Amino acid sequence: MSSRRVACRCRRKQRPRSRHSEAASTASGIGKAGTPPKNRVSLLGDLADIGVLGLATMGANLARNAARKDFNVAVYNRHPGRTEELIREHGSEGRFFPATDIGAFTRSIVRPRPIIIMVKAGKPVDEVIEELLPHLDEGDIIIDGGNSLFTDSSRRFHALKDKGIRFVGMGISGGEEGALEGPSMMPGGEREAYARIEPIVTRMAAQVDGTPCCTFIGPEGAGHYVKMVHNGIEYADMQLIAEAYDLMKSLYGLEAEAIADIFAEWNKGELESYLIEITAAVLRKRDGTGKPLVDSIVDEAEQKGTGRWTAQSALDLGVPLTSITEAVFARALSGSRALRLDAAKALPQPAIPVRAPTQADIDAIRDALYASKIVAYAQGFEQLSAASAQFGWDLHLGDLATIWRGGCIIRARFLNRIREAYSGLDPVPHLLLQDVFREAVVAAEPNWRAVVARAISEGIPVPAFASSIAYFDGFRRGRGPANLLQGLRDYFGAHTYARLDRPGRFHTRWGQDGSEIEV
Ligand code: 6PG
Repeated sequence: MSSRRVACRCRRKQRPRSRHSEAASTASGIGKAGTPPKNRVSLLGDLADIGVLGLATMGANLARNAARKDFNVAVYNRHPGRTEELIREHGSEGRFFPATDIGAFTRSIVRPRPIIIMVKAGKPVDEVIEELLPHLDEGDIIIDGGNSLFTDSSRRFHALKDKGIRFVGMGISGGEEGALEGPSMMPGGEREAYARIEPIVTRMAAQVDGTPCCTFIGPEGAGHYVKMVHNGIEYADMQLIAEAYDLMKSLYGLEAEAIADIFAEWNKGELESYLIEITAAVLRKRDGTGKPLVDSIVDEAEQKGTGRWTAQSALDLGVPLTSITEAVFARALSGSRALRLDAAKALPQPAIPVRAPTQADIDAIRDALYASKIVAYAQGFEQLSAASAQFGWDLHLGDLATIWRGGCIIRARFLNRIREAYSGLDPVPHLLLQDVFREAVVAAEPNWRAVVARAISEGIPVPAFASSIAYFDGFRRGRGPANLLQGLRDYFGAHTYARLDRPGRFHTRWGQDGSEIEV
C-alpha cells in the first residue's frame, strides 16, 4: 500500500508564518540561521515535523492542534477510515500527511522522527511500538501520550534505549477539548529527546501568562507518574464536589439548578477552577423531558485506573494519601449499585430533617470543600516529593503546579498559590505548613468540622471531607496513639519499640517476668 500523504496538500490554507513556525523549523533541523523558514518544504523535499499514530478523538485532536500551529503533521491509524475522516473533516486546518501504511507514515517524518502514539494504555502501546520499530532509525523518538502506567513507561524507556530509540512518556491532560485547544503536557524520559520536541509541544500546550503548560518532568516514567497523581487529585477534587452537592441536596433539599447557582458563585472566589465551572454546567443541563439531566444519570462512577494506581503507589511509598484513596473507594462503593439497592431496603434509612439553608450553611460547605481540597493537594504533592526521592527523579514541584494552571482537568486559581509556595528558596516540607494554606485551613476549620459532624450525625456519607479533616487532626498532633500500637506489636511479636526518654530499641518480656530489655 502506498502513502497518500500528498493528498491534502492543495487544501492547505495559506497562513502567515508565525514565530512558532520558526521554532518548528528549528525543531526539524530546518530553517537554521540564514535559511528563510519559508523555504523549508522545498529544501527538504516534503517532510512532516511530527507524526501522530492513533487517531481516536484524543489523537485526532492533538494532530489538529499541531497542524493549526503550522506544524506539518503525519497521521496514521490502523483503520484508514479514521485517517480519511480526519482529513475529510479537518484537512483544511493545516498541513497533514495522511498515510495508509506505517512505513509510509514514518518515511514522511523528518529525522530524528518524533512520533506521538495515542493508543489505549497497556498492551496496545507495546504492540504499536513493536510495529513501529522496523521502520525507525537510531535516535528517533517515540512519545507515548496515553495514560500509561509509569512502571510500563520506565520499562519502555530502558528497553528502547537499548535499541537506540528514545522514549518520552508524556502525560497529557485536558480531555478532548484540551487536546485540540492546548492541553497540559507532562513529558518524561530522555531530556535530549525532549529538547528535540520542545519547540513543538510547548507550542501545542496551553499557555498561562505567556508560560506554556508543558515542561520536562524527569527521567524514565516520571511524566506518566506525574500525570497519574494529577488524575488522583482529579478524583479527590471530583469526590469533594460530589459530597458538597450531596449535602446541599440531602440536608437542604436544593434542586440541581439552585446548586448550580451556588457552584457558579463559588467559581468567582478561591475555589475558581475548571471542575467547579463544569459542575455548574452539568447541574444546569436539562434533558429532553425538561428535568435536570443529573437527576437521571445512574449513580455508578466508572474508572480507568489512574486514581487506583495513585493510591497503590502511595501505599508503596508509605504516604498517607487519604483523600485520593477515599475518592477511589467511593467510586468502588458507587459501583456496587445492586448491593446498595438491596442494603437500602434491608437497613433503616436516616430521617434527615430537611430545611431551607441559610447563607451561613452554604458558606460552611464551601469552607469544608476548600479546606479538604487543600488537604488533597498537600497529600498529592507529598506523594510526588516522596516518589521523586524514591526514584531519584528530581521533580520540581513548583513546575508541576505551573503546568497544571492551564489546559488540564484540575486547572485552578489555587495552583498559583502552590506555585508560589514552591518558588521560594526555603524547602517546603509540607504544603499545610505554608502560611497561605495553614491560614486557610485554620480559618475554615470551625465550618469544616461542623459540616463533617452534621453529615455524620445525619447519616450522609462524606468520606473525602471526613478523611481530610481526620488527616488534618492527625497531622497537627504532636503525640498520637501509635505508642499503644507499638506496645501491642511488641507484646504479640517482640517487634520492639523506641522510648521518648532515652535512645535505643526496647522489648518488654510480656509473657515472662515483665522486665524491659534493650535490644
Ligand atoms: C485528563 C483526564 C483524562 C481522563 C481520565 C478519566 O487529565 O484529561 O484525567 O486522562 O478523562 O483518565 O479517568 P477515569 O475514567 O478513571 O475517571
